[in-house]
Amino acid sequence: MKLERIWFGGDYNPDQWDENTVNEDMRLFRQAHINMVTLPVFSWAKLEPEEGEYDFGWLDKIMDKLAENGIGCNLATPTTAQPAWLSTKYPEVLPVDMQGRKRTHGMRVFFCYNSPKYRQRAAAIAGEMAKRYSKHPALKIWHIANEYGTYCYCPICRQKFISWLQHRYGTLDKLNERWFTSFWGRTLYDWEEIQLPTELNDDYRFNPTIQLDYMRFVTDSTADCFTNEYNAIRRWCPDVPIQTNMSGFIKKLDQFVMASRMDIVGWDNYPWPTDDKSLVALKHDIMRGLKGGQSFMLAEQSPNQQNWQPYNKLKRPGEVRMLSYQALAHGADSCLFFQMRQSVAGQEKFHGAVISHSGRSDTRVFRETARLGEELEKLSPILPGMRSKADTAILFDWNSWWALENCSGPNRDINYLQTVQLYYRAFFEKNMPVDILPEDAAFDGYKVIVLPMLYMFKGDLGERLTRFVENGGTLIATCMTALADENDHCAFGEYPGPLREVLGLRIEETDALLQNCTNAVIWDRREYVCRLLCDVIHAEGARVLGTFKNEFYAGSPAVTVNDFGRGKAYYIGTQPDLPLLSDLAERLPLSPLADASEGMELTRRSDGENEAVFALNHAQSEGYVDLGAREYTELLTGRKATGKTLVLPNDVGVFAARKE
Ligand code: GLA
Ligand code: ZN
Repeated sequence: MKLERIWFGGDYNPDQWDENTVNEDMRLFRQAHINMVTLPVFSWAKLEPEEGEYDFGWLDKIMDKLAENGIGCNLATPTTAQPAWLSTKYPEVLPVDMQGRKRTHGMRVFFCYNSPKYRQRAAAIAGEMAKRYSKHPALKIWHIANEYGTYCYCPICRQKFISWLQHRYGTLDKLNERWFTSFWGRTLYDWEEIQLPTELNDDYRFNPTIQLDYMRFVTDSTADCFTNEYNAIRRWCPDVPIQTNMSGFIKKLDQFVMASRMDIVGWDNYPWPTDDKSLVALKHDIMRGLKGGQSFMLAEQSPNQQNWQPYNKLKRPGEVRMLSYQALAHGADSCLFFQMRQSVAGQEKFHGAVISHSGRSDTRVFRETARLGEELEKLSPILPGMRSKADTAILFDWNSWWALENCSGPNRDINYLQTVQLYYRAFFEKNMPVDILPEDAAFDGYKVIVLPMLYMFKGDLGERLTRFVENGGTLIATCMTALADENDHCAFGEYPGPLREVLGLRIEETDALLQNCTNAVIWDRREYVCRLLCDVIHAEGARVLGTFKNEFYAGSPAVTVNDFGRGKAYYIGTQPDLPLLSDLAERLPLSPLADASEGMELTRRSDGENEAVFALNHAQSEGYVDLGAREYTELLTGRKATGKTLVLPNDVGVFAARKE
């Protein structure tokens, strides 16, 4: 699966505009090198004014105009916003929220993903569109619905959940065992006694395993809802790729499951002004990891400010360009915006757009967009489909994320994504690339595997990691790693159950530090701040590298390493601040991608024949990357480059060469 070029453009809502404006837009799009628009995301009510009565005349015209102007279409099924008639005629399509309230019609992404009526009508319009447009020259890719992620607790979902559980567990005895219903006397004697975990019964607090299963069920149901439309399209359109755009807030749905149903991953990047660049990089790397390293689509980002953050800062000159190159550097093959033309009314009237209310093309944002579009044409012939391969892998798991944060204790400030980012950042800042892997991936070819708070260990993961170390790999485990099985039952026996042997230690208890309280790790006479949790550890074979400074466990192990087989297994029994992890990274059998100045972000993508080295200078001063002895061509300027090569402040170099 490879895009034919870098798609540049984004969401366009021509249903808001008259024909003159649409014609003017075509002109402006060409001027800005836009080659792809996403539409008609919100036009179900326009395209199907009555059940089964379709009116595609308007869309036909738009599609033809796009084709005439050489612009491709990321053709969206409009199923994210069902028409009012659908909600009115069949109230079952409206969701029930966690408070138990039946919602009324109005909002988008406001439907029950399990409703048979919703699925039937969604498949019908998706099928009609596929029948009509599968051979249309503008059609390049399909886009189903928009940012799935509603949780529903309606009676249909309850019945489906019961069937899902019957399928998963077979018998009620097994369900009682896995849900550990002996705790607080919750034994079930009939499937019909099962309730959904809502606020009406205090949701997860009474049983985290039920909550966990519900999140798994919502993921599976949402994936089925996607597949419902996928199949309807495939009947008429056998080979155009199909995707959906994932929300930037990715906790709610297990995206490994969602991605397994898609031909290419797409995601929406809306960083907050306070986000560190390593967080954005990590999210891209997660997206690249969802389909085993396959490149993905940057499906949305704002060409300027957002409207829905509390403070919607303008993107500074060059900022969108940098964010776009960062996406491409980490594996994106498209650069799409929300949106092309700014709405004059409605919720998003103050959201940034390529064409603002003024309608002018001499604005800062339009000019920056056009320049970027022109530049990307230079990368287009080589970039799509290029992959990257790191020596380090971080295992990332939605089930662990959910279980860890649903957990009552030991510390309410536990934050999975922040913890993953902390570890990721230590490598990121040294330009040591990282791949994100699911816990059931093969570990061959990796030198280092990191398990930041990988709380839940499923199946034979412990054994596979033990073999990885035995065969020469380096493992890094942290506090809260390997404490529970897939049902969220704690390891019976000593912690951390399946990793005890390879880590060569045992954890007796874990102290929670109050908010803003710290302890310290003394390691090689240096003192490193740590917080959140401190494990009381007994080394049983592991060498003690660092010890706690304070509390009754002062002097006891905080950081250890165990030589095991031909490899090493580190344990970090607390949440250290970044400096400890940066120093740890130096000790690992890893090297940076290349020598570079402070603030230079480096990545490498390759297709086996050619490679592209990205150098993003985030610093406010001139920087360099050392390209070594080979001769590269910098793709944006066409200049030859070799050895120590200059990159201007806030600028980017994309250096291409044939692979040696
Ligand atoms: C989301 C949606 C878009 C739009 C943008 C605004 O990502 O998918 O439809 O609402 O946010 O930032
Ligand atoms: Zn429902």
